[in-house]
Amino acid sequence: MKKILWSPTLLSGRLSTLSEDLKTFEAKGVDYIHADVMDGHFVPNYALGTGFIRDLRGMCSLPLDIHLMIERPDLNLDRFDVRPGDIVSVHYESTPHIVRALEGIRARGAKAFVALCPGTCASVLTPLAPFMDGALCMSVNPGFPGQKILPGAERQISSIRAVMDGMGLEDALLEVDGNVSFDNVASLIRAGANMFVGGSASLFYPGASVADNVDRAREAVRAALGE
Ligand code: DX5
Ligand code: ZN
Repeated sequence: MKKILWSPTLLSGRLSTLSEDLKTFEAKGVDYIHADVMDGHFVPNYALGTGFIRDLRGMCSLPLDIHLMIERPDLNLDRFDVRPGDIVSVHYESTPHIVRALEGIRARGAKAFVALCPGTCASVLTPLAPFMDGALCMSVNPGFPGQKILPGAERQISSIRAVMDGMGLEDALLEVDGNVSFDNVASLIRAGANMFVGGSASLFYPGASVADNVDRAREAVRAALGE
């Protein structure tokens, strides 16, 4: 059976129910907690500070999936509470020293992912194979939750998958971030993704409990896989 991972993004959740929601995700055996960090420069928005990420550790035992939308992550990794078993994604576009950033993540025992903006060609990953554990494909312009998936997202996923397969990373995770929904997850899986950021169109779908949303998301995956 193909394993599909889910990573709920706190940016799309509600602060008032954060603690309960984290407990629910833990009880449901969700794989990671996605923490979006924005510096107001790399993306035109601010989100989740270093103290917030540190405090999450006391609220939930799930590993974090830290998505750094900041300039020069290679120079700023020490500011973050990165722990062994976490995933840390750094944007290819955010530093001239992406390899140094990836090496820094691995040196902290975390999995080093390369994130690509929608306009970045998948082929940039080719020289990064020895340094990366997975990729994150942005299916919207990074910066804001609640956007609509961009046309061409599936093609970008397929291109990244093809490049990763060609680099010997057939089993590596390819995470999709932005407007992943109960309805589009099947086509994203078909395109080659195997990990999803669950936001306002899935795990934090309004009007339903997060527990029900997790069940619905898993059902959508089972249907997609023909199980
Ligand atoms: C956007 C962030 C995403 C975003 C996804 O820049 O990286 O994690 O919050 O949320 P939805 O799926 O709600 O748009
Ligand atoms: Zn994200």
